Amino acid sequence: MANIKSDIEITNKVYIETYGCQMNFSDTEIVSSILINSGFSIINTPDNADTILLNTCSVRDNAERKIHERLIHLKRYKKQNKNLVVGILGCMAERLRKNLLEEKQIVDLVVGPDEFRKVPQLIDDARTGTRGIAVMLSRVETYDDIEPLRTSGVFAWLSIMRGCDNFCSYCVVPYTRGRERSRSLESVVKEVENLRDKGFKEITLLGQNVNSYKDRQTGEDFADLLAASAKAAPKIRFRYMTSHPVDMSDKLIETMAEYDNICKYIHLPVQSGSNRILDLMLRGYTVEHYLGHINKIKKLMPGCSLSTDIIAGFPTETEEDHKATLRVIEEVGYDGAFMFKYSPREHTKAFSMADDVPDREKTRRLNEIIELQHKISRELNNKETGNFHTIVAESPSKKNPEEWMGRTDTNKVVVFPVSNGIAEGDIFNVKILGSTSATLFGEIIS
Ligand code: SAH
Ligand code: SF4
Ligand code: F3S
Repeated sequence: MANIKSDIEITNKVYIETYGCQMNFSDTEIVSSILINSGFSIINTPDNADTILLNTCSVRDNAERKIHERLIHLKRYKKQNKNLVVGILGCMAERLRKNLLEEKQIVDLVVGPDEFRKVPQLIDDARTGTRGIAVMLSRVETYDDIEPLRTSGVFAWLSIMRGCDNFCSYCVVPYTRGRERSRSLESVVKEVENLRDKGFKEITLLGQNVNSYKDRQTGEDFADLLAASAKAAPKIRFRYMTSHPVDMSDKLIETMAEYDNICKYIHLPVQSGSNRILDLMLRGYTVEHYLGHINKIKKLMPGCSLSTDIIAGFPTETEEDHKATLRVIEEVGYDGAFMFKYSPREHTKAFSMADDVPDREKTRRLNEIIELQHKISRELNNKETGNFHTIVAESPSKKNPEEWMGRTDTNKVVVFPVSNGIAEGDIFNVKILGSTSATLFGEIIS
């Protein structure tokens, strides 16, 4: 009997490791919730796990390489516990499908982003020796009815839509996450109210392209949703990720300006400063159109911070195109940027183009972009000295336990010394005393 009991205990502990974008982190909270509702428990280390799941990303080759390396490491766990179940979830599961089962003996289950409801069953099957796969994409699945298992009681990710219909020529996401679909405004606002009642302080609304959010029943758009959320929880700060320049609207900028509890921070990826490259990327806008949005944002929300994504070395990119990217970065004056080397992805439209910028040249261009961006971030952060910001305490600083970090409304990290008794979610007024390109240093005023 004792053995049976311990078997039951052993076979229910799941450890999930998450890679990739915020949508993936939000998905892990959904999978965790599905598992708990089926009698599993979620643990924080792989050591005593009976099941190890990797929620994966395919956006660039190095994201996938990380997972291949991780699977090699996990062999050690499987040696220690031959009943261990190992699963691949998310975008890489969707992209590589049965190849993963065929090529990786260690993998017992493969589940794409729209089939998470099947994870408990597939774990059960794997325990009896049947390796399984579920990678259908859906036009309707939004996991609307599932309350994600949130580990913080202060900061919440809230997925308002899934998938992407943009098919930028370099991007694998529409293939791994399927067609775009929005949740109803009513269900999102209900979740906001629920989080408000539980005492959450900050919510980030998530989607690959939130600006094209649409409630199909009522026709309400993302600006309507943001306004309804901000009204439903006036004490909660709202952020959102990510917006696409094509669908950026004046209405959205005006809505952001109108509500104090909508953070003054926009991540608006430009990708390239060259119209010819933007055209090849199928981004659907020109640099001039993009800068029109930026000007409007700066006019209606002076002090709003801005960030971007940049791809260096897209096929056919010349030195002139690269210089145009540097010019846009300079002209906008981004507070921050995520900068990448182009990585060809199978099945995408750009995959048929020759990857003709040599890797050394991509690296050189990327380094130039990073250097310029750091210089701009340093200058902008320098100007913060003497400013006051309201911040929500997030966690102890990694470098010094006597300091904590929190984020400004404009999404800048502030590190500040603390006295006893500080907790996640405490709200402070801080004065900025100094900075680097990545961090502001402050002191608590009140
Ligand atoms: N939906 C978001 C981005 C999702 S992917 C948006 O449209 O902004 C995040 C970023 O990864 C992209 O903005 C892009 O800069 C980068 N990226 C996507 N595919 C890539 C590829 N094949 N090579 C290099 N970078 C890529
Ligand atoms: Fe990829 Fe473009 Fe969709 Fe963003 S908008 S996820 S870059 S296809
Ligand atoms: Fe990666 Fe999938 Fe997100 S490919 S960036 S985890 S949508």
